[in-house]
Amino acid sequence: MGTMTTFELNKIAGAILFAGLIAMIASIVSKGIFEPHHSGDEHTWHAASHYPIVSESLKNKQVILDETPNNNNSEVLFSELLSRANPVSGKKIFKKCSACHSVTEGGPNKVGPNIWNIVGKKVASNDGFGYSEAMIELGGVWDIDSLESFISDPKGYLPGTKMSFSGIKKSGKRADLVKYLISISEK
Ligand code: HEC
Repeated sequence: MGTMTTFELNKIAGAILFAGLIAMIASIVSKGIFEPHHSGDEHTWHAASHYPIVSESLKNKQVILDETPNNNNSEVLFSELLSRANPVSGKKIFKKCSACHSVTEGGPNKVGPNIWNIVGKKVASNDGFGYSEAMIELGGVWDIDSLESFISDPKGYLPGTKMSFSGIKKSGKRADLVKYLISISEK
């Protein structure tokens, strides 16, 4: 006793710090690996980031690329269009929707339901909005693919829908619009 040198004390302090550092790193790494992947359920969805669902729902969707005049029938992955899409242009395109839809958090149902935070949201889930039978029976969750298909051709995608809208025919514009809807969603 009483013979510990400063050198030994430093070694002990160093060992404790080192152990703490390892524990911290281990906890960060395991959180990264074991973070649960949510899908579907609206509740867990709100707690999670949007991006797992966005990428899961974009597996291989092909759309017709209609933005290049000489290349009318070529197909392109919607995910590719989305990665280049412009939410500012999407906001302008949304004017076509805003006659019937509010898109702010807690916004009112109009002719159509409020569609804030629509990607990952349960289909036909707004309280107090009278959905069509077709929409109620569709069920599931709006993901990028179903949203893209629906706004491309509402009545073609969902015969019997009450949404009287002919659809956005250009895939690039749909990508801009979907990017805008994602950009204003809950993060
Ligand atoms: C003329 C009014 C009108 C326009 C314009 C319109 N919608 Fe709709 N929308 C509706 C109605 C009505 C419904 C409910 C449909 C049903 O119940 O079948 C709906 C439903 C939806 C839903 C499903 C919401 C839910 O709660 O499940 C989405 C998503 C949607 N619209 C997106 C859009 C987008 C994006 C645009 C613009 C490109 C658009 N709508 C344009 C009237 C409209």
